[in-house]
Amino acid sequence: MKIMMCGKGGCGKSTLTVLLARALAESGKKVLVVDADESNLCLHRLLGAHQPGIMMDAMGGRQGTREKLKQAADHRHDDDFFKEVMTFDNLPAQCLAEVDGIKLLVVGKIREFGEGCACMIGGISRALLSRLREKNDEIVLVDAEAGLEHFGRQVDRNCDLVVCVVDPNYESLQMAGRARQIAEAAGVRTCFILNKVDDDVREVMADGLDRERIIAAIPRNSEIFRQNLKGLPLTVSIPQLESACAFISSYRRPLSLSMKL
Ligand SMILES: Nc1ncnc2c1ncn2[C@@H]1O[C@H](COP(=O)(O)OP(=O)(O)O)[C@@H](O)[C@H]1O
Ligand SMILES: [Mg+2]
Repeated sequence: MKIMMCGKGGCGKSTLTVLLARALAESGKKVLVVDADESNLCLHRLLGAHQPGIMMDAMGGRQGTREKLKQAADHRHDDDFFKEVMTFDNLPAQCLAEVDGIKLLVVGKIREFGEGCACMIGGISRALLSRLREKNDEIVLVDAEAGLEHFGRQVDRNCDLVVCVVDPNYESLQMAGRARQIAEAAGVRTCFILNKVDDDVREVMADGLDRERIIAAIPRNSEIFRQNLKGLPLTVSIPQLESACAFISSYRRPLSLSMKL
Protein backbone atom coordinates (compact mmCIF):
# COMPACT_ATOMS: atom_id res chain seq x y z
CA MET A 1 0.00 0.00 0.00
CA LYS A 2 1.31 3.43 -0.94
CA ILE A 3 0.27 6.43 1.10
CA MET A 4 0.92 10.07 0.26
CA MET A 5 1.30 12.28 3.32
CA CYS A 6 0.34 15.81 2.37
CA GLY A 7 -0.82 19.12 3.80
CA LYS A 8 0.10 22.71 4.37
CA GLY A 9 3.67 23.69 5.28
CA GLY A 10 4.37 23.11 8.97
CA CYS A 11 1.17 21.11 9.63
CA GLY A 12 3.21 18.07 10.69
CA LYS A 13 3.61 15.92 7.55
CA SER A 14 7.17 14.86 8.34
CA THR A 15 6.39 14.36 12.02
CA LEU A 16 3.41 12.16 11.27
CA THR A 17 5.25 10.30 8.51
CA VAL A 18 7.87 9.31 11.08
CA LEU A 19 5.43 8.57 13.91
CA LEU A 20 3.21 6.51 11.62
CA ALA A 21 6.21 4.67 10.18
CA ARG A 22 7.29 3.72 13.70
CA ALA A 23 3.81 2.70 14.80
CA LEU A 24 3.26 0.61 11.65
CA ALA A 25 6.70 -1.02 11.96
CA GLU A 26 5.96 -1.87 15.59
CA SER A 27 2.72 -3.52 14.48
CA GLY A 28 4.73 -5.82 12.21
CA LYS A 29 4.57 -3.97 8.87
CA LYS A 30 7.59 -3.39 6.70
CA VAL A 31 7.77 0.31 6.00
CA LEU A 32 9.51 2.34 3.32
CA VAL A 33 9.55 6.11 3.83
CA VAL A 34 10.11 8.11 0.65
CA ASP A 35 11.32 11.64 1.30
CA ALA A 36 9.83 13.39 -1.71
CA ASP A 37 10.13 16.91 -0.31
CA GLU A 38 12.83 18.79 -2.20
CA SER A 39 13.36 21.20 0.71
CA ASN A 40 13.28 19.05 3.88
CA LEU A 41 16.77 18.38 5.18
CA CYS A 42 16.27 16.33 8.31
CA LEU A 43 13.83 13.48 7.84
CA HIS A 44 16.60 10.95 8.47
CA ARG A 45 17.30 12.62 11.82
CA LEU A 46 13.65 12.35 12.89
CA LEU A 47 13.86 8.66 12.05
CA GLY A 48 17.22 8.27 13.79
CA ALA A 49 18.75 6.96 10.55
CA HIS A 50 21.97 7.94 8.82
CA GLN A 51 21.62 10.22 5.82
CA PRO A 52 21.42 8.01 2.73
CA GLY A 53 22.74 8.97 -0.69
CA ILE A 54 20.26 11.18 -2.50
CA MET A 55 18.77 9.56 -5.60
CA MET A 56 19.15 12.56 -7.89
CA ASP A 57 22.83 12.96 -6.92
CA ALA A 58 23.57 9.27 -7.26
CA MET A 59 22.03 9.28 -10.73
CA GLY A 60 24.52 11.95 -11.84
CA GLY A 61 22.70 15.17 -10.99
CA ARG A 62 20.15 16.70 -13.29
CA GLN A 63 21.81 15.56 -16.51
CA GLY A 64 22.23 11.96 -15.40
CA THR A 65 18.75 11.86 -13.89
CA ARG A 66 17.21 13.14 -17.11
CA GLU A 67 18.86 10.28 -19.00
CA LYS A 68 17.88 7.65 -16.46
CA LEU A 69 14.27 8.83 -16.39
CA LYS A 70 14.22 8.65 -20.17
CA GLN A 71 15.73 5.15 -20.17
CA ALA A 72 13.14 4.06 -17.61
CA ALA A 73 10.32 5.56 -19.68
CA ASP A 74 11.67 3.60 -22.67
CA HIS A 75 11.74 0.41 -20.54
CA ARG A 76 15.53 0.22 -20.61
CA HIS A 77 16.32 -0.93 -17.10
CA ASP A 78 19.97 -1.78 -17.17
CA ASP A 79 21.18 0.29 -14.23
CA ASP A 80 20.92 0.41 -10.47
CA PHE A 81 18.02 2.75 -10.21
CA PHE A 82 14.83 1.96 -11.99
CA LYS A 83 14.00 -1.69 -12.48
CA GLU A 84 10.99 -2.73 -14.52
CA VAL A 85 9.53 -3.94 -11.24
CA MET A 86 10.88 -2.45 -8.04
CA THR A 87 10.43 -4.13 -4.70
CA PHE A 88 11.51 -3.48 -1.12
CA ASP A 89 14.43 -5.80 -1.88
CA ASN A 90 15.89 -4.24 -5.03
CA LEU A 91 15.88 -0.54 -4.15
CA PRO A 92 19.16 1.27 -4.96
CA ALA A 93 21.38 0.27 -2.03
CA GLN A 94 23.53 3.41 -1.96
CA CYS A 95 20.39 5.53 -1.52
CA LEU A 96 18.89 3.50 1.28
CA ALA A 97 19.07 4.01 5.03
CA GLU A 98 17.45 1.60 7.43
CA VAL A 99 16.55 1.86 11.10
CA ASP A 100 14.21 -0.14 13.34
CA GLY A 101 12.76 -2.00 10.36
CA ILE A 102 12.04 1.23 8.46
CA LYS A 103 13.74 1.96 5.14
CA LEU A 104 14.31 5.51 3.92
CA LEU A 105 14.85 6.75 0.36
CA VAL A 106 15.55 10.42 -0.32
CA VAL A 107 14.55 11.49 -3.80
CA GLY A 108 16.28 14.85 -4.35
CA LYS A 109 17.09 18.23 -2.82
CA ILE A 110 17.46 21.75 -4.14
CA ARG A 111 21.00 22.91 -3.36
CA GLU A 112 22.10 25.69 -5.68
CA PHE A 113 20.79 29.03 -6.76
CA GLY A 114 19.31 28.74 -10.24
CA GLU A 115 19.77 24.96 -10.50
CA GLY A 116 16.27 24.50 -11.89
CA CYS A 117 12.84 23.66 -10.57
CA ALA A 118 11.74 20.63 -8.58
CA CYS A 119 9.82 18.98 -11.42
CA MET A 120 12.64 16.50 -11.99
CA ILE A 121 12.47 15.50 -8.33
CA GLY A 122 8.75 14.88 -8.83
CA GLY A 123 9.69 12.84 -11.90
CA ILE A 124 11.91 10.57 -9.80
CA SER A 125 9.15 10.05 -7.22
CA ARG A 126 6.66 9.29 -9.97
CA ALA A 127 8.97 6.82 -11.71
CA LEU A 128 9.73 5.10 -8.40
CA LEU A 129 6.13 4.85 -7.22
CA SER A 130 4.87 3.60 -10.57
CA ARG A 131 7.39 0.71 -10.54
CA LEU A 132 7.22 -0.20 -6.88
CA ARG A 133 5.22 -3.36 -6.16
CA GLU A 134 4.83 -3.80 -2.44
CA LYS A 135 3.54 -6.92 -0.73
CA ASN A 136 0.54 -6.99 1.61
CA ASP A 137 2.63 -6.41 4.73
CA GLU A 138 4.67 -3.61 3.13
CA ILE A 139 3.68 0.03 3.39
CA VAL A 140 5.16 2.98 1.54
CA LEU A 141 4.79 6.39 3.20
CA VAL A 142 5.61 9.34 0.95
CA ASP A 143 6.47 12.58 2.74
CA ALA A 144 5.36 15.17 0.17
CA GLU A 145 6.41 18.77 -0.18
CA ALA A 146 4.06 21.35 1.31
CA GLY A 147 0.97 22.30 -0.62
CA LEU A 148 -0.61 20.82 -3.70
CA GLU A 149 2.16 20.71 -6.26
CA HIS A 150 2.63 16.95 -6.02
CA PHE A 151 -0.88 16.64 -7.44
CA GLY A 152 0.08 18.88 -10.34
CA ARG A 153 3.06 16.61 -10.98
CA GLN A 154 0.91 13.47 -10.68
CA VAL A 155 3.18 12.01 -8.02
CA ASP A 156 0.05 10.65 -6.31
CA ARG A 157 -0.96 8.79 -9.43
CA ASN A 158 0.15 5.42 -8.09
CA CYS A 159 -0.83 5.95 -4.48
CA ASP A 160 -3.66 4.03 -2.85
CA LEU A 161 -4.45 6.62 -0.24
CA VAL A 162 -3.78 10.29 0.42
CA VAL A 163 -3.48 11.18 4.11
CA CYS A 164 -3.87 14.90 4.54
CA VAL A 165 -2.47 16.27 7.80
CA VAL A 166 -4.52 19.20 9.05
CA ASP A 167 -3.42 21.58 11.79
CA PRO A 168 -5.69 24.14 13.37
CA ASN A 169 -5.77 27.00 10.93
CA TYR A 170 -8.17 28.07 8.23
CA GLU A 171 -5.74 27.72 5.32
CA SER A 172 -4.89 24.18 6.40
CA LEU A 173 -8.59 23.22 6.47
CA GLN A 174 -9.15 24.78 3.06
CA MET A 175 -6.15 22.97 1.65
CA ALA A 176 -7.42 19.67 3.04
CA GLY A 177 -10.71 20.18 1.20
CA ARG A 178 -8.89 20.98 -2.02
CA ALA A 179 -6.55 18.00 -1.64
CA ARG A 180 -9.53 15.71 -1.26
CA GLN A 181 -11.21 17.17 -4.32
CA ILE A 182 -8.12 16.81 -6.51
CA ALA A 183 -7.16 13.35 -5.25
CA GLU A 184 -10.64 11.95 -5.66
CA ALA A 185 -10.97 13.32 -9.17
CA ALA A 186 -7.89 11.19 -9.87
CA GLY A 187 -9.45 8.17 -8.17
CA VAL A 188 -7.43 8.26 -4.94
CA ARG A 189 -9.24 8.14 -1.59
CA THR A 190 -8.36 10.85 0.95
CA CYS A 191 -8.51 10.78 4.72
CA PHE A 192 -7.42 13.27 7.35
CA ILE A 193 -5.24 13.28 10.45
CA LEU A 194 -5.87 16.27 12.68
CA ASN A 195 -2.64 17.42 14.27
CA LYS A 196 -1.73 19.77 17.13
CA VAL A 197 -5.32 19.68 18.34
CA ASP A 198 -6.49 20.64 21.79
CA ASP A 199 -9.99 19.70 22.97
CA ASP A 200 -11.43 23.09 22.19
CA VAL A 201 -10.39 23.10 18.52
CA ARG A 202 -11.10 19.47 17.66
CA GLU A 203 -14.81 20.00 17.09
CA VAL A 204 -14.30 23.20 15.12
CA MET A 205 -11.91 21.36 12.82
CA ALA A 206 -14.14 18.31 12.47
CA ASP A 207 -17.02 20.60 11.48
CA GLY A 208 -14.91 21.90 8.62
CA LEU A 209 -14.13 18.42 7.28
CA ASP A 210 -15.93 15.20 6.51
CA ARG A 211 -15.88 13.70 10.03
CA GLU A 212 -15.96 10.12 8.83
CA ARG A 213 -12.67 10.59 7.10
CA ILE A 214 -10.78 11.70 10.18
CA ILE A 215 -8.65 8.69 11.10
CA ALA A 216 -6.82 10.24 14.09
CA ALA A 217 -6.56 13.41 16.13
CA ILE A 218 -3.09 14.02 17.55
CA PRO A 219 -2.73 16.43 20.45
CA ARG A 220 -0.16 19.17 20.61
CA ASN A 221 2.74 17.45 22.34
CA SER A 222 5.68 19.30 23.84
CA GLU A 223 7.95 16.26 23.59
CA ILE A 224 7.44 16.05 19.81
CA PHE A 225 8.29 19.73 19.60
CA ARG A 226 11.36 19.37 21.84
CA GLN A 227 12.80 16.35 20.05
CA ASN A 228 12.34 18.08 16.71
CA LEU A 229 14.01 21.26 17.95
CA LYS A 230 17.07 19.30 19.03
CA GLY A 231 17.23 17.22 15.85
CA LEU A 232 16.64 14.05 17.86
CA PRO A 233 14.87 10.91 16.69
CA LEU A 234 11.13 11.11 17.33
CA THR A 235 10.54 8.44 19.92
CA VAL A 236 7.35 9.77 21.49
CA SER A 237 4.63 7.18 21.77
CA ILE A 238 1.30 8.57 20.57
CA PRO A 239 -1.66 6.33 21.49
CA GLN A 240 -3.98 8.40 19.30
CA LEU A 241 -2.17 6.99 16.26
CA GLU A 242 -3.59 3.53 16.89
CA SER A 243 -6.82 4.39 15.09
CA ALA A 244 -4.85 5.56 12.05
CA CYS A 245 -2.77 2.35 12.03
CA ALA A 246 -5.91 0.23 12.29
CA PHE A 247 -7.51 2.13 9.41
CA ILE A 248 -4.40 1.76 7.23
CA SER A 249 -3.97 -1.92 8.05
CA SER A 250 -7.52 -2.75 7.04
CA TYR A 251 -7.78 -0.35 4.10
CA ARG A 252 -8.50 -1.87 0.71
CA ARG A 253 -8.78 0.41 -2.22
CA PRO A 254 -12.40 0.26 -3.45
CA LEU A 255 -12.72 -1.08 -6.97
CA SER A 256 -14.92 1.88 -7.83
CA LEU A 257 -11.95 4.13 -7.14
CA SER A 258 -9.79 2.63 -9.85
CA MET A 259 -7.48 5.14 -11.41
CA LYS A 260 -9.11 7.49 -13.86
CA LEU A 261 -5.91 9.20 -14.96
N1 LIG B 1 1.52 17.08 17.51
C1 LIG B 1 2.50 18.00 17.59
N2 LIG B 1 2.74 18.63 18.77
C2 LIG B 1 3.70 19.57 18.87
N3 LIG B 1 4.48 19.97 17.85
C3 LIG B 1 4.29 19.38 16.65
C4 LIG B 1 3.30 18.36 16.46
N4 LIG B 1 3.36 17.97 15.17
C5 LIG B 1 4.34 18.69 14.58
N5 LIG B 1 4.88 19.54 15.47
C6 LIG B 1 5.95 20.53 15.21
O1 LIG B 1 5.53 21.36 14.15
C7 LIG B 1 6.67 21.75 13.38
C8 LIG B 1 6.43 21.38 11.92
O2 LIG B 1 6.34 19.98 11.81
P1 LIG B 1 6.80 19.21 10.49
O3 LIG B 1 6.50 17.78 10.71
O4 LIG B 1 8.20 19.59 10.14
O5 LIG B 1 5.81 19.85 9.43
P2 LIG B 1 5.78 19.70 7.84
O6 LIG B 1 6.56 18.49 7.47
O7 LIG B 1 4.33 19.58 7.52
O8 LIG B 1 6.36 20.96 7.30
C9 LIG B 1 7.86 21.06 14.00
O9 LIG B 1 8.46 21.94 14.91
C10 LIG B 1 7.23 19.89 14.75
O10 LIG B 1 8.00 19.45 15.86
MG1 LIG C 1 8.26 18.24 6.21
